[in-house]
Formats: sequence, C-alpha cells, structure tokens
Amino acid sequence: MSSETPWGNTVLVEFDEGIAWVTLNRPEKRNAMNPTLNDEMVRTLDALEGDPRCKVLVLTGAGESWSAGMDLKEYFREVDESGDPALQIRVRRASAEWQWKRLANWSKPTIAMVNGWCFGGAFTPLVACDLAISDEQAQYGLSEINWGIPPGGVVARALAATVSQRDALYFIMTGETFDGRRAAEMRLVNEAVPADRLRERTRELALKLASMNPVVLRTAKVGYKVSRDMPWEHAEDYLYAKLEQSQFLDEANGREKGMTQFLDEKSYRPGLSAYSND
Ligand code: COA
Repeated sequence: MSSETPWGNTVLVEFDEGIAWVTLNRPEKRNAMNPTLNDEMVRTLDALEGDPRCKVLVLTGAGESWSAGMDLKEYFREVDESGDPALQIRVRRASAEWQWKRLANWSKPTIAMVNGWCFGGAFTPLVACDLAISDEQAQYGLSEINWGIPPGGVVARALAATVSQRDALYFIMTGETFDGRRAAEMRLVNEAVPADRLRERTRELALKLASMNPVVLRTAKVGYKVSRDMPWEHAEDYLYAKLEQSQFLDEANGREKGMTQFLDEKSYRPGLSAYSND
C-alpha cells in the first residue's frame, strides 16, 4: 500500500487494491476542518476523480476522531476577526465545495468510515458519502446549540435527507451525543460494528464496489440522488436518460451480457447475483 500527502499534511491518501483511503489528518485538533484542510480536500477529490488507482473512496479520520466539525478557531473566529467579507465567502465556498457539492454526486462510490468523534459540520461529508460504516462506540453530536449557534452550512438539510424529523430535531435541539449503534438505528449510517472490525468490514464493502461496473454504479447513484428532489414526471424522463447514458458509456456492455446470460445461457439469476464478466 502506498501513502501520499499530495498537497500538504492535512489530508493523507493511501491506495490499496482500488480503494483510496482518504484520511482527514489533523489528529491533534481531532480532525477539525480548517480552511487549509478544506482546500486540500477539494484538490484531493479532483485528483482522485481521474486516478485509476481509486475505484472507491473511503473517508476516515486520523487518531481517535472522524472529525470534530468545523474548526472553531480558524474557520470561525479568525475569519470573523479578519473583517474581510471576501475571505468569509472564499472559506465557506471551499468548505461546501468538497463537503457536499463535489462529494455528494462524486463519480465513484464513497464510504464514510466513522472511527470516532463526529460533530457539527462533519455531518455534511458524512451524509454526502454514499454509504457509511461506523464504530459502535463512535460519538456523534449536533453540538452547535451547545456553543450558541444553530447548525450552519447544510447540516440541517443533510439530516433531513437521512434521519426522521423526530430524531433530527431531538439532537439538533438538545445537543446530546449518541453512539454508532444509535446512528445505525436511525439510519444515519448503514451499519455499526465493533472497533476491531471497522476497517475489515469497510474494506470488504469497498472491494465489492471496486469489482463492480463503474459506469452503472455512477449512473445508478447519481440518478437516485438527483431524482429524489424532482417531480415524478421529470424524474421518469431523467432516469430513462440516465439509463440510456449508462448503456451509451458502458464499454463493458453489462446489460447485454446480463440479458444473454439469463435469457439464453440460463447461467445465473439476476435477482440473486451479478452477471459474469468473463
Ligand atoms: N475546532 C477547533 N479546534 C478543535 C475542535 C474544533 N471543532 N475540536 C477540537 N479542537 C482542538 C481543541 O481546541 C484542542 O486543541 P489544543 O490542544 O490546542 O487545546 C484539541 O483539538 C484537542 O481537543 P480536546 O477538547 O482537548 O480533545 P478531547 O479528546 O478531550 O475532546 C471533543 C474531543 C471532540 C469532544 C472536543 O474537542 C470538542 O468538543 N470539540 C468541539 C466539537 C464541536 O462542537 N464541533 C462542532 C463544530 S461545527
């Protein structure tokens, strides 16, 4: 496995059999997201998009934290004190740019591997990742109310896209923490596993996705995410266009193989497993 810190030290990238393990790397600050980290994550996502060593991206955190949210000193206080409105616009833009604008509809599958603390602004990249596996003991919190603000950015919107209104408002309004098991119960993450199984389970899922047809995965995930806010009439037209885009771009010709293997060769059941690429 090779390791890289392509543009600085706040993001670490390791490649492993098609998986890019992207680690938020400010463990001494519990991986709080400062403007430098946000800039580096924008560049990391752009670079990995065209890197054949990355078929699936796993987003995790160095040390005992996934991310303690936005950096209260460098993202909030120092920007406020600068008195420079253009600086505030710039740092907010870079933050949004990777945490949801690029990440949510990224062209390759993404998995959040939540290994520890996950607070406030960290809910945005958590929800933007397609799938999420958590340490059972990881601690989550919408702590904004504890330090005197409502959730900013798109945190509240991201919650509305995943958990129920009752759960969202309970944790937004109380600022109480909850663990990985509770996060799985409320479907904020797909699964919660013991700490000693976290990497193994995430790797297993990532390898499965890395072995699948990338064009079909991309059109399937983007189609789901984009169409969910559309009226049904628009969604139907868009999703048929997505299907046709998938067939047009899929050089491996998956649909034809699947049909032939099921209808003519009778060699598999598409309801139960995937077609063979051989
Ligand atoms: N912004 C800036 N710095 C942060 C930070 C944040 N969100 N979260 C942690 N840090 C820094 C601390 O200031 C401290 O820095 P220092 O060593 O220079 O004093 C360092 O990270 C370690 O934090 P500490 O509180 O000592 O670690 P802990 O393991 O005891 O507690 C947390 C971890 C995550 C529970 C605690 O740091 C915390 O509550 N952080 C804020 C979480 C939050 O409300 N985030 C929402 C932001 S949108």
